[in-house]
Order: sequence, then structure tokens, then C-alpha cells
Amino acid sequence: MKYSLVAAVLASQSVVLAELLPVHFKAPSPAHFRDIVHNDTYDFGCRPVAKPTEDGQFQLHALLTEAQIAHLAKEYEFTPEISIHRQMVKRAATAPIGTGDRFSSGTVAPIGLGTKATGSTISSIMNVAEISSAIKALGTTYGVSTVTLPYKTFNGATQTAAYVGAGTDKSNYHLYLSAGVHARERGGPDNLIYWISDLLAANKSGSGLTYGKKTYTNAQVKSVLSAGIVFFPLVNPDGVTYDQSSGSLWRKNRNTKSGSSGSSIGVDINRNFDFLWNFKKYFDPSEAPASTSPSSETFYGTAAASESETKNHVSVYDSFPKIRWFMDVHSAAGDMLYSWGDDDDQSSTTAMNFLNAAYDGKRGPVGDSAYKEYIPSADLTAVKKVSSATVAAMQAVGGRSYVSIQAVGLYPTSGASDDYAFSRYWAKTGVNKVYGFTMEFGYSTNFYPTLSEFNQNILDTNAGFMDWALTAISVGLE
Ligand SMILES: *[C@@H]1O[C@H](CO)[C@@H](O)[C@H](O)[C@H]1NC(C)=O
Ligand SMILES: *[C@@H]1O[C@H](CO)[C@@H](O)[C@H](O)[C@H]1NC(C)=O
Ligand SMILES: [Zn+2]
Repeated sequence: MKYSLVAAVLASQSVVLAELLPVHFKAPSPAHFRDIVHNDTYDFGCRPVAKPTEDGQFQLHALLTEAQIAHLAKEYEFTPEISIHRQMVKRAATAPIGTGDRFSSGTVAPIGLGTKATGSTISSIMNVAEISSAIKALGTTYGVSTVTLPYKTFNGATQTAAYVGAGTDKSNYHLYLSAGVHARERGGPDNLIYWISDLLAANKSGSGLTYGKKTYTNAQVKSVLSAGIVFFPLVNPDGVTYDQSSGSLWRKNRNTKSGSSGSSIGVDINRNFDFLWNFKKYFDPSEAPASTSPSSETFYGTAAASESETKNHVSVYDSFPKIRWFMDVHSAAGDMLYSWGDDDDQSSTTAMNFLNAAYDGKRGPVGDSAYKEYIPSADLTAVKKVSSATVAAMQAVGGRSYVSIQAVGLYPTSGASDDYAFSRYWAKTGVNKVYGFTMEFGYSTNFYPTLSEFNQNILDTNAGFMDWALTAISVGLE
């Protein structure tokens, strides 16, 4: 049987997506994808994930150029178990980006879907200026405070985090959420800003929140706010500005230090954090948890936390020393990821951990016994509980299914924000323990949602944020 190359049926946005085409591979086991995922010139969306399919096979999504598809077709010509498929479903037009400023220079507060009549929708994705305007409006309307972060981005943007719910003492803030790390993952900042807006509107009016079939009481709203929420809705403004103007599925920031044209521009902020950053030293040579090549979508940068966006993200932990729970909002895989992301978890051998040089060169391969990352069993129980509750809430909205899985999935990552958050407690002295999660809303490689998907994503994530926070509170904030 010949390798099946399904005829091209390009979606309506094919002109803008000309460079990268959504495809998926199908094979009888995740191991069949090993060679493919180890080629760091390919783009596997937010993270490579092999998902089981109904017919007992596994699927791996990717964004590839015609040349890469042709190369792989030839490579696997005589390997009938592995097939490649182009996206066949013709999708509706993608959601538009807002053109003006719906928040009128920070004077009109955003109103989320949880406090609007059922069936209401939001008609476009916020542009970069609107995200700033929304944060300002939350300040004007509800007294939300902001922190100006210390480093300007490569293109000169000033970054802002905001905090609300627990007064002026920054050590009373226990929840931290960020979004907009990967530029093309559209709707992430909107999900976060509309949720905060809902909490504040419901708190003010004494009402609860409704997200599809999922409802929350006013007491729950007040409980979540009083946990103290720090939010950083746009971690990568340079990348988002570029993506929104080019429609190029841009992921990284726009730093030109390591490359000045095309795909060689930019660092993957989510491989740049100071957690096993120098992966060539720490991981098994067969693994590619990030890339040293500037043209790769997972280029790790020039040093751990070399990027302003990464440093600003980290500075939030210094300003709010009692953060206990962190979530980074990404798309699009339909899952919630809990620690760790560098290898399988284990709770029995404390010495087998990311700081122990005896294991350098052994980390990464999943399913082997050479290395597994240590997580205390009580911590594992806690993060699984919070992750499952988040997914259950997202599903209860009634739109679609989500899964809770360990972040390593089938392939490891290095330098990611969730692992960095959890690693701080062991890597630095005198800092709080932080449980780190990554939420991946939406469908695989579907970075530009249609308008209806964009609205569904707001409902799903907002219910997810509620149960994430409520379950975190029940596990403990101190
Ligand atoms: C990765 O894929 C490209 C083509 O898409 C190919 O030219 C290159 O040789 C591959 N790299 C490795 C290490 O196999
Ligand atoms: C929540 O509502 C109460 C009562 O109206 C108010 O005092 C408090 O400031 C509100 N909290 C926030 C964070 O806006
Ligand atoms: Zn992402």
C-alpha cells in the first residue's frame, strides 16, 4: 500500500496560510512519530501531542510547508503504517481582529460572556491596543491595579501585569495567570480579560456567572477574587502585533539578535525559561525538547531567560512572593497539562531530579527507566485534582471535550513556563512553592478560531478558570 497523500482541499484562508498547512499524521503507535518529532524544522503547534483516535490509531498534528510535505511523502513512501493527511474540513472564516478600540481609551469596561444574556457573543478578537485599553478600563471601572514590568520588549513595548481581589498587600495574591505567549494562539488574552471582567461585574452586582451549562454562585465569585489574582494577559505583544497584521501563524517574539529575516527572527518564549534550558546538556541526545536553530519554531534563545518577555514574566513572582498557583493559557490542543514536562513523573526517588548532574544526558525519553522527574506524591495528587476539575468544568459547559494529562505527554519540553514555575521551589532558596499548569483551549493546530469557536473558547476557558481557582482554593493557598 502506498503512503496516502490526501488531495488538497484548502480552507478559505488558504491564501494567508500559504506557508504553513495544517496536516496530521496517523500511525498505530506514538513511537512511530519519533523520527518526525525529532526533526526540529517541523512545527507541531503549541507542543507535539499524539492523541488516540477512535479507530485505535494515533494522530499527530503539524503545520508544514508544501516542500516539507513532499519530503515526508517520499521519506515514508514505503512505510505504510504512517500516513499524512491534509485538513479536509472546510472551515468558516476566521474571527476578525477588532479594528477600533471598543474600550474607548480605557473608559468603557469589558463585559464578559458570563454576565451577559445566554447566547450573547463577542464579535471580534482584541487587537493589541485594545488589550491595553481593556486593562486600563478595568482600573478605571473597578480599581484594578497594575504593575509596570521592568523590561521593554525587543520592539520597545512596555509590559503590564494587573492584580485584583486581595487589596494592596502583594503578599495576599496567590493566583497567577498569563496568556499571549505564542502570538498565533488567538483569543488567549481575550479569555483572560473577559473572565476578570465577569468576576468584577458579578461581584459588584451581587450575581453569579453562567458559562453554557455551567453556573457559579456569587459566593464562589467572591471566593475566587479574594484569593488574589495576578494576570498578565499579553506576554508577547511584538509577536501578536506581527501575527495580527501578517496572518502568518507567527509563534515566537520578534527579536532579531539571532536572525534578521523570515523564520529566523524570534525566540520561542516558552522554551526560554530557566528550567533545563540548556537541553543539549541535560537531555538524552535523542530528544529535541527545544531547538538551537533560530529558524525553528522552538528556538530557545541565547541564554536562559534571555528575552525581556521571559524576564518580565519571572519578575511577577518577585513582586508577588506568595503566588501558589500558576496557569499559562495556550491553544490549541484541548487539554490541561500538569507537572512535569521534561520526563515521566515519579514520587519515590528524591535524588532523581532536575538539579542532579548525575542524570545529565539522560532526561527526556518517555516510558524508559533511565530518568523520571521527581514530584512529591502529595504535590502530584494536588495538581492532578486541580487539573481534572478544570477539565471537568470546561466539558460541563457543553461545547466539546478536553483531557487532563501530564505535560510531558509523549515528548518532553525544556524551558517552559509551567515547569519553571514548579521548579523554582527547589532551584532557588526562600521562594514559595508554585504549582504550574498549561491550558490548551481549542482544537489541534486550529490557532485562528472561527467566530463561533472564539466564543466557545471564552465560555470553556472561563469555566475552566473558575474551577481551577476554586479547586486550588480548596487544596490551599498558603
Ligand atoms: C528535516 O526535514 C527536512 C525536510 O523537511 C530535511 O531536509 C532534513 O534533512 C530533516 N532533518 C533531519 C535531521 O532529518
Ligand atoms: C466586591 O464587591 C464588594 C461589595 O460591593 C466591594 O466592596 C469590593 O471592593 C469588590 N471587590 C472588588 C475586587 O472589586
Ligand atoms: Zn502555545
